[in-house]
Amino acid sequence: MEVSKEPVQPDDWHLVGRVSSFPDIGQDEKGCRVLSGCKTLSIPKKDDQEQSRGNRFSDLGDQVLVFKYKGFLHAIDNQCPHSAFPLKQGNVFDIEDLGAGIKCFRHGWRFDLFTGKGDRGSHKLNLWDIELRDPCVSEIDGKAASSTDKEVWVRRPPQA
Ligand code: FES
Repeated sequence: MEVSKEPVQPDDWHLVGRVSSFPDIGQDEKGCRVLSGCKTLSIPKKDDQEQSRGNRFSDLGDQVLVFKYKGFLHAIDNQCPHSAFPLKQGNVFDIEDLGAGIKCFRHGWRFDLFTGKGDRGSHKLNLWDIELRDPCVSEIDGKAASSTDKEVWVRRPPQA
């Protein structure tokens, strides 16, 4: 797990690593824990970026949690919509017909990883946009070389 201490650039899209840097979360004795294979990055909202420099350290509400489960990459708010607990401590579970959800460790609320819908009340989890891009092409001995290991970029949803 990685937590970036520095605010990243103010662009909408943020590079979070290559696909190969996200191991598929597997079952262990505690279930499918997010913690083991996730990356957590601090990406302040644009309005907060100037204020955040130098006087704030990685507020939970600024963090995106990125991980892979059963071949699908997910990027979600790290902050539980219920009561601001870090979802990286949660468990991932299957929902019938290829669905998946995350269960918050604190009070056990569950959220669908594809719709954000919660199982209680009107609380909804913010899902970030994900884009896979070809990595930068490099020159080796005058020939263009590329990798099939795509870059993973994330973007905060507009309403978040
Ligand atoms: S803080 Fe996540 S369910 Fe309550």
